[in-house]
Amino acid sequence: MRTGFPARVQALRVRVPRAAMAIRWAERFMGASGVGGGRVLVCFLVCSRYAGRSGRRQTVFLAMFLMRGGVGRAGPILAGMQRQPFTALAAVYDAIMADVEYDHWADFVLTFARDGGLDGSGGALDLACGTGGFTRELRAAGLDVTGLDFSEEMLREARARLPGVPFVQGDLRSFALPERFSLVTCVFDSLNNLLTPEDLGAALGRARAHLRPGGLFAFDVNTRVGVRELWEGDAIEGLAPMADGGEVHYHWSHHHDAEADLGVVQAFCRVGELEFVETHRERGYDPADLEPLLAGAGFARWEIVEYPDYAPPEPDAPRVWVFAWAGNE
Ligand SMILES: C[S@@+](CC[C@H](N)C(=O)[O-])C[C@H]1O[C@@H](n2cnc3c(N)ncnc32)[C@H](O)[C@@H]1O
Repeated sequence: MRTGFPARVQALRVRVPRAAMAIRWAERFMGASGVGGGRVLVCFLVCSRYAGRSGRRQTVFLAMFLMRGGVGRAGPILAGMQRQPFTALAAVYDAIMADVEYDHWADFVLTFARDGGLDGSGGALDLACGTGGFTRELRAAGLDVTGLDFSEEMLREARARLPGVPFVQGDLRSFALPERFSLVTCVFDSLNNLLTPEDLGAALGRARAHLRPGGLFAFDVNTRVGVRELWEGDAIEGLAPMADGGEVHYHWSHHHDAEADLGVVQAFCRVGELEFVETHRERGYDPADLEPLLAGAGFARWEIVEYPDYAPPEPDAPRVWVFAWAGNE
């Protein structure tokens, strides 16, 4: 029996950010009680108890709206807010990610690469490059870098940020470029967007096929614990200044879908009158999941470590970095 709110009501949690926790509690209660028609009423009662003053005001409005049968009318509006992953988000991604330490990540990767004998020649390929935050650091370090991503919207931002850097549209699981590279990278959970081991294995195979002999593939992934525990019931909210002088209000609520074993992010953003939601899903991968896939993709050897000290991962590490070498064939 389905015990949660219908999808349309689920989407409302991002319209009522401070009530998200309360709605989750309401869902748990409903799951236990099997209440059907009283869902909206329970939501109202619990939200008004736990959502704080502003959340209470919004939930009163919401509950009245729902009890008057407003869900039917709200559905198309909310459905209209839903966008495909990494499409609408592209325009606000850099503002929201302004504090990401791409420069430190690049030092981390390039130090490992240099210590392993790479001298910076032979070109670099930044997979799932997004808007080019990490690509820029590779470029700044003097590498001849190419970026690749699935999303044309993200690539548009990357091209504007780094004119002169080649950016190509492609899928991690199937891309084929004419060049081979000494260094291939893929950072910031990008490989967690691949939701099956088969898809991840295909992407590792593509990365391996684009390495020169003795080349290095460096990537990070969230582990199962990282996706399950860090994302359970978490939310981030903020206001970020944009390059054009405007600002983006974002509220991203995270939860773990235990049945599918996926982390799910409802990424709500508002810029002026424009509002949208993107739903992102991630699967966590542990070192034990990665090892057979790395072997199957044809890597000669690899190290799985934690950032920033290159230490072997603790069993509860939320994120690991992988350095996988192609053989010198
Ligand atoms: C979290 S963003 C990271 C972007 C960038 N690496 C950064 O550090 O800012 C994940 C990126 O993965 C890309 N992506 C997801 N699935 C993909 C796929 N199957 N093929 C290519 N790119 C993909 C998305 O378009 C998005 O730009």
